[in-house]
Amino acid sequence: MPALPVRDDGLIAKERYTSPGFFDLELERLWPRVWQIACREEQVGEIGDYCEYTIGTESVLVMRSGPDTVRAFFNACLHRGTRLARGCGHTETGTLTCPFHAWRYGLDGRLVEVVDAPEFGGLPEGLSLGEVRCERWGGFVFVNLDPGAEPLLDFLDPLPALLAPYRLDEMRLRSYQTTVLPANWKVVVDAFNEAYHVQGTHPQLLPWTDDVSIEYEQLGKHAHYGRLPSARRRLRPSPRLGLAEDEFDEGEVLAGLVAGLGGAFLKEERDLVDEVRAGPLPPDQNLLETYQARRRDLLASRGFDVSGLDADQMTSADDVYVFPNVVGPIYPGSAILFRVRPHGVDVNAALQDTWVLEWPRPDRPWRMPTPRWYPDWHDHDWGPITTQDYENMARVQEGMQSRGFRGLRLNPRQESNLLHMHQVIDEYLAD
Ligand code: FES
Ligand SMILES: [Fe+2]
Repeated sequence: MPALPVRDDGLIAKERYTSPGFFDLELERLWPRVWQIACREEQVGEIGDYCEYTIGTESVLVMRSGPDTVRAFFNACLHRGTRLARGCGHTETGTLTCPFHAWRYGLDGRLVEVVDAPEFGGLPEGLSLGEVRCERWGGFVFVNLDPGAEPLLDFLDPLPALLAPYRLDEMRLRSYQTTVLPANWKVVVDAFNEAYHVQGTHPQLLPWTDDVSIEYEQLGKHAHYGRLPSARRRLRPSPRLGLAEDEFDEGEVLAGLVAGLGGAFLKEERDLVDEVRAGPLPPDQNLLETYQARRRDLLASRGFDVSGLDADQMTSADDVYVFPNVVGPIYPGSAILFRVRPHGVDVNAALQDTWVLEWPRPDRPWRMPTPRWYPDWHDHDWGPITTQDYENMARVQEGMQSRGFRGLRLNPRQESNLLHMHQVIDEYLAD
């Protein structure tokens, strides 16, 4: 039986977010046994490229060791344990040299040089860095510290099928920002895994967001919210605003949506809104259908393969949660994904990576953006919506620690993804 299980009355014990004991249990039983995204493939595009991924006290080095081979190793020298490398980089020599006594390792992890080897009785035969399971999907490099873990695709099922039309493997990083948030990692994940908070935190979105009709579904270990393929969403403001059908204009809602989602639409796609609104519309299409069809044509004319995407996906996002720690919206041609981890071994702090991905224009060469690091999230302007989300983090983490607060009372529908996450965590803690 796991510690602090989800109770029959639905209350989620607050200690799951605040107790160092529960946090340690996660470090011992959850993190070393789940597939987690270590980096994007384009970060280790060239032979000799490496990228460090840290989780708790562990550090893993992902290395491109051959044209189509990416491997991962524990980042600890076999001599006295020194971390071999920090961050991401490239070795020209085909070997990694330990910064302490200069033992050298091949890109396949083999120990190839021991300085003054005769004093050790020669170069030890067949010694290699500890290998970590490493598999790829969607342009992401995943690692799993558990040698007996299920294959990555089994773990991810059914997300690869759901997300296939977005061709994530063809996207490339456009920006990469990392910061520290003053909350447990699950508080951060939760903040992006439901739209129940839109009315409380982001009321400015309500004129163009029908937040009430958003559907939530749990998919294997993972989750999803947004449009359901079966329930095509209409373009309308939130019913919470109480506007009658003749009190809003579909064109204005569309303009608000496209402007509000900003980066998900390129300039020409934003300009298209005015063009479509100016009319005339094709006889058999309404305004929304016309915009969706025109946007699709525009993307196709840039050389992008949009054949798997349906019309509704042209004006909505698929918000996904990849258990345990990646969450965010995916759009035609772009995605904003948040990867959340404990910050070191602090139960009250999370390391948050924000990845903006996009299909590179076929006519423009792609270059790796410089990753940005903001030790304090206040040091950067994240835009109004994300700033509102970040402002909640400390409030939640501090409020949870009150003697007067016992546990979370989740909305059974709109926060079902959060409850599901706890249940999946418990599967790891229990066995
Ligand atoms: S600790 Fe790496 S060579 Fe000594
Ligand atoms: Fe939000």
